[in-house]
Amino acid sequence: MRSKWCRAFPGLPEQVAHARHFIAALLHEQGPVEDAVLVVSELATNAVRHTLSGSAGGWFLVVIGLGDDLVRIEVVDQGGDRVPRLCDSTGQEEGGRGLRMIAACAKDWGVKTWPEGRTVWADLAREGV
Ligand SMILES: Nc1ncnc2c1ncn2[C@@H]1O[C@H](COP(=O)(O)OP(=O)(O)OP(=O)(O)O)[C@@H](O)[C@H]1O
Ligand SMILES: [Mg+2]
Repeated sequence: MRSKWCRAFPGLPEQVAHARHFIAALLHEQGPVEDAVLVVSELATNAVRHTLSGSAGGWFLVVIGLGDDLVRIEVVDQGGDRVPRLCDSTGQEEGGRGLRMIAACAKDWGVKTWPEGRTVWADLAREGV
């Protein structure tokens, strides 16, 4: 990575918009802004909805790494009982689309587990930017 940027946000639903603005400003004219905004939106929403980041006093971190060929977007959450999982596309129920959208637009994505939380990350290509 040529450079790395990081910001912490309170674990509140309205902070997801701030995370979008943060990444859009950083990638302005030098990255895949629309895809990055989508990815950070879904990951931050998941952190707030599905992990302890969304409980009182919780927080999540957005980390953006700029490489020559890719942008790595990471959202660090505070963990909990649930585990990120890709839902299959045959289900009729609402929800379960966020990680599938990320898998569709990212070169690669994954999950790192820490003692007190997780990082869900996605790499986007910078080609053509
Ligand atoms: N950071 C996370 N930590 C723990 N579990 C997670 C995390 N992100 C997602 N999950 C789990 O993986 C499931 C799938 O996530 P996904 O974002 O695809 O769907 P969703 O959040 O349930 O619905 P949607 O994103 O379509 O509104 C979630 O329902 C949740 O159980
Ligand atoms: Mg989701």
